[in-house]
This record gives sequence, C-alpha cells and structure tokens, in this order.
Amino acid sequence: MPSDASQPAPRARLFARLNPGVTLERSAAGGVSALFDGRAVAFGTFGADVAERAADFETGVAFDGERDGEISELVRRLALYGLVEYRLARTPSGPDLIVVEPQMRDYAPRMIELDEDCALALSRFAYIRRRGADVVLESPRACALFRLCDPSVTAMIAHLSQARTVKELRDSSDFPGVELLALLLDSQILFTPGPGADKALRAAEGDDELVLWDFHDLLFHTRSTNGRHANPSGGIYAHAHLAALPPAIRPSWPGPAIDLKTLETAPPSDFAALLRRRRSTRAFDERRPITLAEVAWLLDGAARIISRERAPDDGQDEPESETAPRPYPSGGASYELELYLAVDRCDGLARGFYHYDAKQHALVLIETNAQWLTAMLEDAQFAMGAPAVPQVLVTMAARFSRVSWKYSGFAYALVLKHVGVLMQTLYLMAAEMEIGACAIGVGDIDLFAKMTGLAFHVEGSVGQIAIGRGVQSDSPPLAD
Ligand SMILES: Cc1cc2nc3c(=O)[nH]c(=O)nc-3n(C[C@H](O)[C@H](O)[C@H](O)COP(=O)(O)O)c2cc1C
Repeated sequence: MPSDASQPAPRARLFARLNPGVTLERSAAGGVSALFDGRAVAFGTFGADVAERAADFETGVAFDGERDGEISELVRRLALYGLVEYRLARTPSGPDLIVVEPQMRDYAPRMIELDEDCALALSRFAYIRRRGADVVLESPRACALFRLCDPSVTAMIAHLSQARTVKELRDSSDFPGVELLALLLDSQILFTPGPGADKALRAAEGDDELVLWDFHDLLFHTRSTNGRHANPSGGIYAHAHLAALPPAIRPSWPGPAIDLKTLETAPPSDFAALLRRRRSTRAFDERRPITLAEVAWLLDGAARIISRERAPDDGQDEPESETAPRPYPSGGASYELELYLAVDRCDGLARGFYHYDAKQHALVLIETNAQWLTAMLEDAQFAMGAPAVPQVLVTMAARFSRVSWKYSGFAYALVLKHVGVLMQTLYLMAAEMEIGACAIGVGDIDLFAKMTGLAFHVEGSVGQIAIGRGVQSDSPPLAD
C-alpha cells in the first residue's frame, strides 16, 4: 500500500531485546533467569506482566525508561550483565532505525525533551566506521554505540557537522525523527552549542576540560582501558590462529658484529645488580603485611616532590609555567601523575582508599564505597592471576591538562610513557626494599572515576602497580 505523505510518520520507540545467544527462562514461582555462555543467572522474581512479555524479549519489549516499572527493572538487571541492546523503530516489528549497544553497565537510553528551536551539532569526538557488516556511530564520550540501520540516519548525522535546529532538520525529506536526536544528545554524540557560541570546530561542548583533548587521544584513553567500552580485550589470543608468534629473540642482522663481551672488565655496579634482581611478585604474604613505614619509604624514594620551579615566560612561544619535579623524568617537566592507594592490608594503615599528597608527603583518606574498593582490588587480583588481592594497589592517575596544555598530537602517548617511567621507578624502589611489586596492564577508568568523583577525562586512571610483602621474601618489616 503506498504511504500517505501527508500523515506524519509514527513516533519512533525503543524496544529492549536480548543479545544474540541469550534466552530467558521463567519458573512457576515467577523467578526469571537468563541463559548465556552455557550458564544460568537468576535475576529475581517478577510479576505476571513480565511473565506475559518474556517472549517479547527476543524481538524487543517496548522500553520507556523509568515509567516501565518491573520491565525496566528486569532490563536494568540484564544490562548490568551486558545482555541487552535497544532498537529504535516505529513499530514493534518494523525495520530498525538504529540499534543501541550499551558500552557501560549502568547505561540506559534516555530521550531528552527537545523543543523545535533547539540547535544541535555533532560532537567532534563522534565518528562513523564499519564494524564487520555494520556501520556504527561511536564516541569516547558516549556510554553506548549506535548501529546505523537506515541511510536517513547517516544522512542526518552528516548534516549536523554544522549546528541546526530541530525544526530545520525536520524540514528535510528523510528526517528520521526527533527521538533519534534525543537519544544522540543524551549520549553526547550531539551537543547543544550555547547561544552566542562561535563556529569554532573546537567548542567546549558543554565541558571546558574537553577543549584540551585531541580526538585520537580521548579515543585511545577510553578504548585501551576498561570501563567505557564493551569490546573484547585482554590476553585472548584473538589472532593466534592467523599468525605465528614472532620469535622471542630477533634474528641477527647480516652485517659485521662488534663483540661487546670482550669489553666487560669492571664488575657490575650495585645499581646494575638491582636491575637484574627486580622481578614481578604476584603472591603476597597474608601473615606479614607491608608496613606504613615501608609505604612511606617507597613513596618518598619514587614519587615525592623534590622541589618547585618556575619557568619564566620567554616572551616568545613559551608562556610562564610552574613545575614540581619528582625523582623520575617527565616530558616537559609536566609531572601530571598522581598516586592513589587502594589499601587492603598494611600494618599501621587502615583498609581504605588514599591520595598521596606528594608535596606534603602525606596520605589523605578519600571516603569511597567499600564495594568499589573491593572491586578495584579484585580486578588487580584477576589481572595477576593471583591467589588473593594485593596488600596495596597503587593507581597512577593523570591530570591530563598538565600535558595537553602544552603538547598537541602526542599528549596521551606522553602520559603513557610517563607511566612506564614511574612504573619502573616504583619497581626498582620495591626491589631495593625487598618488597614485592607487579605492574597491572589495564585498569577500569570508570571505577576510578566513581571512587574519586573525578571525570575520566579530567584526572583519570592510566596505570596500576600492586605492592606488598611477597610470600618468598624473608626480609623483616622495616618497623621491626
Ligand atoms: C606495563 C606492564 C603491564 C603488566 N601487566 C601485568 C598484568 O596485568 N598482570 C601480570 O600478572 N603481570 C603484568 N606485568 C608483569 C609482567 O608480566 C612481567 O614484568 C614480565 O613477565 C617479566 O617478568 P619480571 O617482571 O618478573 O621480570 C606487566 C608488566 C608491565 C611492564
């Protein structure tokens, strides 16, 4: 039947549906379980309404956020396990405009009310790419990814390289609907340039701290850590079936070799011996925790502020700046790294979360949720494949703008290099003190943000190292 062009298209709605491979089961008593990856997880007891609509979860159950009562509660619980996605469509069985894939556990789509004169523009952090046979719209700022299923959506996004009002967009012949705009605004894929905002490509987007971020740096930060994406990550050998591992030792170049062994005359120095002695320790002695005095010694040696210096404005391209050097080198003397200690067991220091004030050489308690503290310690235990959580987990957090205020293009890469430098400094101090240490490859930036209340792009977790008294160590605690 030909469509009636004079009739407005029906309002698009969200439908929550189970991810492929997930099914729901309901017991006679109303208990709902999800079956996936060969296991069953119980999600609690729900009323008759949920029972009646359980089958709809395969294709999509209408989802209107908070107003949905039990349905939205079940969706929320399923979402915590990453088991649902949301399709935006005009009818329950009609074609999808987009499919929303949550990237963060506590994300639920919301449609922000928009009036016709509201101007919208595409965030400079948003991008479209091919993923398999799909075209996806993403942003490091967004808590969700959008699979684009209708060409009208892609066309509208291209239109939004310049600010346009809802009314202007609605006038275009293939306008996909205000509901889509509302979803994308909620996800910070779109933003509302304020009145009088200039046409600069680098508008603050409602957050002044974003001005100092390059696109690729913010993307790298969110995709190379845990917490803000749902992509597979970690040591999963994804390509082991495609290619052999290159040899551990590089084959020699064919040119003439100058033998350095003949030059080994002096015995190795104490420092060179320390370098050789350093090893990673993953199992810590539960009966003999590290002491507060040892933590103080470690921090003093590796991370304490040594001096305070001021570089004057040179009248050319270097504005005045202040630096606070520490025992390790830092590009541009940025010294953007701060240390936070998640303490499980430390003799003389209560279990808790602390900031190391590198100027005062003091630990400052940060009140935080006990479950988050446990989650952070358990993540580190998992990363090390260790029998127990570390006694102390040190998180390095970067005050990013200390670096990006000066450097463009490689600011985030510089931060990660600094993490490596500080990591080795902590490793070597620990080796000298004969306490155990183990670097942790990846941390959860969202968990750190929750624990500190600091936005992930303002002062964010970039590295971690576990420390404690190793089980093999015979050294007496410093305080003895
Ligand atoms: C940046 C970095 C990340 C690491 N991440 C982990 C990790 O997540 N889990 C772990 O058990 N070890 C981790 N390690 C430790 C390495 O596995 C270890 O350094 C390596 O196996 C060499 O052993 P060694 O440190 O005892 O000499 C990491 C080391 C570095 C430098």
